Amino acid sequence: MKFNAMTAVAAVMLAVPGVASAGPDDDKLIINGETEIVTKAPLPAHMEDLNMDMIMSGWHFRSDETQVLEMDDFDNPGMVFVEIAQEQWDTVEGSEGKSCASCHEGPESMTGVRAVYPKWNEDAGEVRTLAMQINACREENMGAEPYEYTGGQMANMEALIALQSRGMPVNVAIDGPAKETWEKGKEIYYTRYGQLELSCANCHEDNYGNMIRADHLSQGQVNGFPTYRLKNTKLNTVHGRFKGCVRDTRAETFTPGGEEFVALELYVASRGNGLSVEGPSVRN
Ligand code: HEC
Ligand code: HEC
Repeated sequence: MKFNAMTAVAAVMLAVPGVASAGPDDDKLIINGETEIVTKAPLPAHMEDLNMDMIMSGWHFRSDETQVLEMDDFDNPGMVFVEIAQEQWDTVEGSEGKSCASCHEGPESMTGVRAVYPKWNEDAGEVRTLAMQINACREENMGAEPYEYTGGQMANMEALIALQSRGMPVNVAIDGPAKETWEKGKEIYYTRYGQLELSCANCHEDNYGNMIRADHLSQGQVNGFPTYRLKNTKLNTVHGRFKGCVRDTRAETFTPGGEEFVALELYVASRGNGLSVEGPSVRN
């Protein structure tokens, strides 16, 4: 049986009168009463020919009750994991007898890092996600086991590092040596997968603002990652989320940490260039 993309989207769309076409709201996100978060921004140059007005954080598409949890760190359930990561940061592991702190001092030394990842690494000759870089440090610099790519310890560490850049604009480079990976990610973003024959774009570009089942579709931005989800009560990584979305199209998914998802992450991150780093964010 063959679906075309619009039939498939229509089939899963839930027609709720008055809610079905509810767009993003106009609320403002200020964290702890002091850190202003840019949640709407002009389209990055590479998106200017798309039929979209602006880029928007997924925060705008959540209910007021969910939104408020991100406005104060005492209410943000993701902050518990930042505290755990602080301990991980200081823990000596591996054959070299080192912790992150042995080489990087405090987590503040990571200010600005989350905003520019995924990023080309010249020595390795590859685009690295933040998770890949953390594991490269563990394996090569500490002689320690890598964290599981989408596991809890990785998500914790990403949250600690993201927090240091909170409020800074996402600014991933897509030219130079990163261009090839970026192009590959773009191709994946527009490819229809699975029995439903849906691409990322069919949902997150063509239908953001619409309801799908009981969920309010966002632009599928990654500026808020890692994300605490009320649904599974834990921090979720970017590739964990990608995997869930691909599965929803009833397709075989790519491997977290594999080259397809790395390329896709670079491309999706670049669609958020100009939004603030928000992590750890809160979503349903
Ligand atoms: C033995 C020293 C050493 C240890 C221990 C170490 N790192 Fe690193 N780390 C480095 C060096 C050197 C670089 C820069 C080299 C590079 O960019 O490839 C780096 C780069 C990084 C970067 C990228 C920064 C940027 O500006 O792009 C991150 C993130 C990072 N480390 C995280 C960690 C974490 C988390 C730990 C602990 C799990 C850790 N590192 C442990 C030496 C270390
Ligand atoms: C069938 C529709 C559908 C498709 C196809 C789909 N997603 Fe999603 N996605 C959702 C829904 C529903 C959510 C949860 C609500 C929201 O944030 O949009 C979501 C959430 C996300 C989020 C979290 C956003 C946030 O702010 O926390 C990201 C990132 C994401 N998707 C990326 C992707 C990528 C990349 C693809 C392509 C591989 C994809 N999605 C394909 C439906 C879809």
